[in-house]
Amino acid sequence: MCPMKQIDASNSNRPAPEFIPALRFHALTGLFDAAVRVGVREATFKTRLLEPMNLGPGTSALDVGCGTGTLLALAGKRFPEADFTGLDGDPAILARAGRKLAGQARPVRLVAGFANELPFENASFDAAMSSLVFHHLTTDRKHAALREIRRVLKPGGILHLADYGKARNPFERLAFLQVQLLDGFATTSDHAAGRLPDFIRECGFNDVRLTDEIPTATGVVTILRARR
Ligand SMILES: C[S@@+](CC[C@H](N)C(=O)[O-])C[C@H]1O[C@@H](n2cnc3c(N)ncnc32)[C@H](O)[C@@H]1O
Repeated sequence: MCPMKQIDASNSNRPAPEFIPALRFHALTGLFDAAVRVGVREATFKTRLLEPMNLGPGTSALDVGCGTGTLLALAGKRFPEADFTGLDGDPAILARAGRKLAGQARPVRLVAGFANELPFENASFDAAMSSLVFHHLTTDRKHAALREIRRVLKPGGILHLADYGKARNPFERLAFLQVQLLDGFATTSDHAAGRLPDFIRECGFNDVRLTDEIPTATGVVTILRARR
């Protein structure tokens, strides 16, 4: 079963931040595109994420945690007749996405909001995608985000998710330690332990498949697909 929000008795009164910015600190956001291009083999894993998708005229897809909009730009070129929506918790990064996507033939809707409280109606999208966002979410929020993504997908809609997975060797484990030191252990330990496929299953998705494992300088990026 997909666990509901737990109350952490060890928590102080300080509320958890709503989101971790793209490179942990707002001041580093300007470096994000270059860092991902080099450190996470962005072109390779985002192309593979989009490869099996099939979005024709009249279809819609949501990018959860769209960041600077690179995945939306690639998706818009590949599926020029589909409608795309990007959501992110950081209004400053959405402004960057807006500039990047200004030249797209078909306008992309950009929405400020949180993965764990999606501001969309039930069954709004044919597909959902998310790249490098879940390692920014606590375990509770990962579950909440998965429940929300399932809610806004149409029956039969597919979630395409790329994020760090369990290392297959000591080099990948050491590489991922860099991400853990930057983004913190609270949100990244589930990834080191390879728990994401189970979480997706527990939150009610079917046909959960790990379709790709891409070694990068910052750890192995896994591509997971699941059906609502
Ligand atoms: C590492 S960046 C990845 C951005 C983009 N998906 C990509 O692959 O280039 C993580 C993004 O998730 C966003 N984010 C983190 N927590 C979030 C949340 N709870 N809801 C929505 N966005 C969130 C951050 O603002 C950031 O833009």
